Amino acid sequence: MIRQLVNNIYYVGVNDRQKDLFENMLPLQYGVSYNSYLINDEKTVLVDTVEHPFVEQLINQVTSVLNGKPLDYLIVNHMEPDHSSGIKTLKLLYPDLQIILNAKTADMLNGYYGISDNLYIVKDGDTFSTGSKTLSFHFTPMVHWPEVMMTYVKEDELLFSADAFGCFGALNGAVIDSELDLTVHYNEMVRYYANIVGKYGLPVQNALKKLSGTPIKMICSLHGPVWKDEIAKVVGIYDTLSKYEAEPGVVIVYGSMYGHTEQMAEAVAEGAASITKNVKVYDVSRTNASYILADIFRYKGFICGSPTYCNELYPEINSLLAKIKTRGIKNREFGCFGSFTWAGATLKNFKAFAEEMKWDCVATPEIKQNMTEEQYKELYNLGRVIAEKTI
Ligand code: FEO
Repeated sequence: MIRQLVNNIYYVGVNDRQKDLFENMLPLQYGVSYNSYLINDEKTVLVDTVEHPFVEQLINQVTSVLNGKPLDYLIVNHMEPDHSSGIKTLKLLYPDLQIILNAKTADMLNGYYGISDNLYIVKDGDTFSTGSKTLSFHFTPMVHWPEVMMTYVKEDELLFSADAFGCFGALNGAVIDSELDLTVHYNEMVRYYANIVGKYGLPVQNALKKLSGTPIKMICSLHGPVWKDEIAKVVGIYDTLSKYEAEPGVVIVYGSMYGHTEQMAEAVAEGAASITKNVKVYDVSRTNASYILADIFRYKGFICGSPTYCNELYPEINSLLAKIKTRGIKNREFGCFGSFTWAGATLKNFKAFAEEMKWDCVATPEIKQNMTEEQYKELYNLGRVIAEKTI
């Protein structure tokens, strides 16, 4: 899709509605866009490329806008291959292309693609004139890779933000936020952040501080809509998520082989729902963890239930807890419940997890085999207690 954003700057990105799993693990229910931008000034500059199956479409769009002019420069803000795997093909078409990048990016470019010629290395804060536009380069390491930088266009107050403020969801016929139904994109922004950026809250905070004095009228991320009318909202979402702040509400996740632990989760959910409408219940074996993680980032309460399995937690619950640990999610109201048939091992594991996360832990006694009426009340109360703590 080609769209003019401001004078001499064009969107030339692509939609990918074919990929099932982003990074080979995150379902793409609504597709994804790989955004690329073209500055058609005295000097011509492409800002990032697209994943390699779409590079022909990118090149067709670039040559259409350039209308016979050569492409002089490519800025590489981010080297993850969903944006960089088109570079080698682009170089075949434009062998004299100069690549503007930082030293860390240069190392990756050589390592991934064997490209080490025609490099224009920039330092943090350097500027570059395309003729009528002044670009500046701002390093934002670990948002979410170490080489990441953002490129700012002074005259247009426009920020090429790499992955930051991006989301899953292909662009349905338009590019600018005000021209799109953003319902899917906002949900998918939280899921994108939770799974891909979620470990790097502090670097995101550092990047937000670094950009805080910069006037910005347009944010051009590498995925999802171009933000224009909704800049305050998307910056707010990033600020909230990177501080691990959350809304009132409870996410209840359980593993269950034969339905007993599931029934316990239902009792917990009834208790939580007596306090708040924001109750999400997930069977860990049925919902891809990326969606569960998104809601754990979104809501303050998290209650987890598991049967004892091989004297440990249920494997899928273990896997989810590992993902939460990796992301270092802070300040959640945590509750847990567990079951067993002949020897219980859930509570000690849940408590060890909570200790590692530095979370308080509210636990009900482990339940042997099937829940009694008395135990139903304890679980109902667990849901109430955690929900109350989130308000
Ligand atoms: Fe969209 Fe970090 O790549």
